[in-house]
Amino acid sequence: MQTGTTISKVRMAVELARSAGDKIGCVPTMGALHAGHLSLIEKAAQETDFVVVTIFVNPTQFAPDEDFISYPRPIEKDLELCKQAGANFVFHPQSETIYGENPQIQLCVGELASRWEGNSRPKHFDGVATIVAKLFNIVQPDVAMFGQKDYQQLAIIKSLCRDLNFPVEIVGCPTVREEDGLALSSRNAYLSPSQRKQATVLYRALCLAEKLVQDDQCSLKQIREKMLEMLVSEAGVVPEYATIVDPNTLEMLERLQQKMVALIAAKVGETRLIDNRELF
Ligand code: PAJ
Repeated sequence: MQTGTTISKVRMAVELARSAGDKIGCVPTMGALHAGHLSLIEKAAQETDFVVVTIFVNPTQFAPDEDFISYPRPIEKDLELCKQAGANFVFHPQSETIYGENPQIQLCVGELASRWEGNSRPKHFDGVATIVAKLFNIVQPDVAMFGQKDYQQLAIIKSLCRDLNFPVEIVGCPTVREEDGLALSSRNAYLSPSQRKQATVLYRALCLAEKLVQDDQCSLKQIREKMLEMLVSEAGVVPEYATIVDPNTLEMLERLQQKMVALIAAKVGETRLIDNRELF
């Protein structure tokens, strides 16, 4: 496995692979890798011939009061994990390499970014779309893997490719969970042992929504209320939203339809967690 921090080095490696006929896969991450990230790298290794993992804690997607400074950066351990998972190249640039001095252009995501996560993190998805567009321009992959764990992010990346004509196939990969259902997240490391137990309530509320939809006895409004009730029943958990939306537009639904997604965001102590479940 090769590694590099410069744009020229990753470009050269990709060009060489492409000229040998390789299909190029890309897995963008912010590092602190866990089994969820590794599942994306393994999927990329199955589907493509040359896998570029990017590790970059992107400053422009963090608000000033968020955890950019304290975000974990265990680079040596991450490189080892990438190697084991089948990466061919890890691109882990410095911020100056990516943004240079005084950049003037950035992307601005429309309506899709305004709700749910965008509500509490107003510029977050502009930062995500900008960095992913830059990484796609640097790596020029044929395929890129993203987790369904970040459902709204995945929808926005698909829209990015459609709207800006990036010739990149976006593959959404299933959420990897702990045995008790908690979705793996780099931020789970912030949870105390008791908060770690409380945090399973997000998954339990999603399963409740699934069951209630299957039973077909409740309206979506009632289901939203029951999810919220379950979330607040856990001391130390403060829900931000618990909703059921259309999988494409992410607009809140009032009536049952065939394809729906339940989305939850909640604070467990100081740690903000998100999770979702497709209800189809
Ligand atoms: P990060 O949070 O490091 O996540 C990198 C990728 O791993 C994302 O596609 C995310 O959805 C996926 N992922 C995280 N937890 C997962 C889990 N439990 N199961 C499956 N996949 C999971 O998301 C970002 O970084 C950044 O916003 C990024 C896209 C890299 C842009 O900076």
